[in-house]
Amino acid sequence: MMEWIDVEKQCTGLDEKLIDRTKGFLDKDEGLRLYQIGLEASRLGPCLEIGSYCGKSTLYLGAACRKNNSTLFAVDHHTGSEEQQPGEGYFDPETYDIRQGRMDTFPLFRNTIIDGGLENTVVPIISRSEVAARHWATPLGMVFIDGGHTFAAAYTDYNSWIGHILPGGYLLIHDIFKNPDEGGQAPHYIFKLAAASGLFQVLSMTKTLGVLRRIECGELPEDLPGV
Ligand SMILES: C[S@@+](CC[C@H](N)C(=O)[O-])C[C@H]1O[C@@H](n2cnc3c(N)ncnc32)[C@H](O)[C@@H]1O
Repeated sequence: MMEWIDVEKQCTGLDEKLIDRTKGFLDKDEGLRLYQIGLEASRLGPCLEIGSYCGKSTLYLGAACRKNNSTLFAVDHHTGSEEQQPGEGYFDPETYDIRQGRMDTFPLFRNTIIDGGLENTVVPIISRSEVAARHWATPLGMVFIDGGHTFAAAYTDYNSWIGHILPGGYLLIHDIFKNPDEGGQAPHYIFKLAAASGLFQVLSMTKTLGVLRRIECGELPEDLPGV
């Protein structure tokens, strides 16, 4: 695993202080893995994340895309997931807009993108993931799923977007807990669907971040019978 200091030396685009002060749910090692995979993936095509919140993951992926003059599409309706609503465990009052009477993380997200110098790299899409996917036609070097954590939301994200991943591209899924006592099982469920699909090679995880690579045309999975 690359250390923070090594990555920072190689890439002046990652601003550790900005990342630290940005609200979010991403561990630093997971962020650095996002950055590493983002560097490879954004050479293949644009990248897309589902679930930006205030932009922590966007800072890592955006910095990687910027290095390759690529684009990061950042999809989020910005009204929060179930567990982030008032009264729930992950509610943050600073994300609540009194006038709208609901959460709105877009102003915080926008400031993060400006502070991170990512306005020419990140394209925010303020939408439910399945609505954004409805007429999507651009092949992607990476899809990062970190949106709603119900089974319905996770499955919808998986089903809506995996068809757009280029051969050799990546599918990343956050918050995978193999032990149900440690966390919800929806991300783990779609990770297992992808692993069993025959379309992806499973790479090593970083903490709760699952990493899969879309098998190239003509390439065979290592566990194919007879190989
Ligand atoms: C766990 S947070 C994302 C955390 C973020 N990646 C980070 O690094 O801090 C989940 C986000 O997904 C968004 N979300 C939930 N369901 C969604 C859906 N169906 N479409 C788009 N965004 C969704 C929420 O608004 C919330 O901002």
